[in-house]
Amino acid sequence: MGAIAPSSKYLTKKMMGNLSLSEAKVVVELGPGTGVFTKKLLELIGPQTKLLVIEINTIFYKNLKEQLSDPRLTLVKGSATDLSLYLKQLGLSQADIIISSLPLAVLPSFLRNRIVLSASDALSQKGKYIQFQYTLQSQKMLEKVFSAVKIKSCLLNIPPAFVYTCSKE
Ligand SMILES: C[S@@+](CC[C@H](N)C(=O)[O-])C[C@H]1O[C@@H](n2cnc3c(N)ncnc32)[C@H](O)[C@@H]1O
Repeated sequence: MGAIAPSSKYLTKKMMGNLSLSEAKVVVELGPGTGVFTKKLLELIGPQTKLLVIEINTIFYKNLKEQLSDPRLTLVKGSATDLSLYLKQLGLSQADIIISSLPLAVLPSFLRNRIVLSASDALSQKGKYIQFQYTLQSQKMLEKVFSAVKIKSCLLNIPPAFVYTCSKE
């Protein structure tokens, strides 16, 4: 899980505030948990946007499946490491925006690297990968994979968080 509470509305805004979600063709969310970001994404994406959401935990997955019904949404029970495979199964090539709340800092390094590399593979050239973390520990690793990494802090969250905005150009 890697969290003590669902993300706050302030962190939600920091994660999504500057994104062109309504114009995106494909948006991906990794690790939705109780769905705090998923519900906001469904408000912000456009009528034609496809939203692929991947959750590994069976209980979170089942709860979201029961709560959310939207023709734009595909909810998958699986691992973020298989993101490209899920996109392919949906007939989608790459994602314009990837929103991740995966707890990178507590994952073994091989898994952390696989997740971030597979997100980078699945991201379009002009796309954005947005990741929050509670520490700056992931900065170097993200900088190795992406050409540009910008960091903002969000104090109004328990615990306070950092939002990494990563892109290929
Ligand atoms: C810190 S919680 C974030 C929950 C929610 N998005 C929020 O911000 O409050 C991390 C979530 O990532 C999920 N998760 C962990 N590893 C995963 C993986 N490899 N693939 C997909 N989801 C994963 C966990 O089950 C959990 O729901």
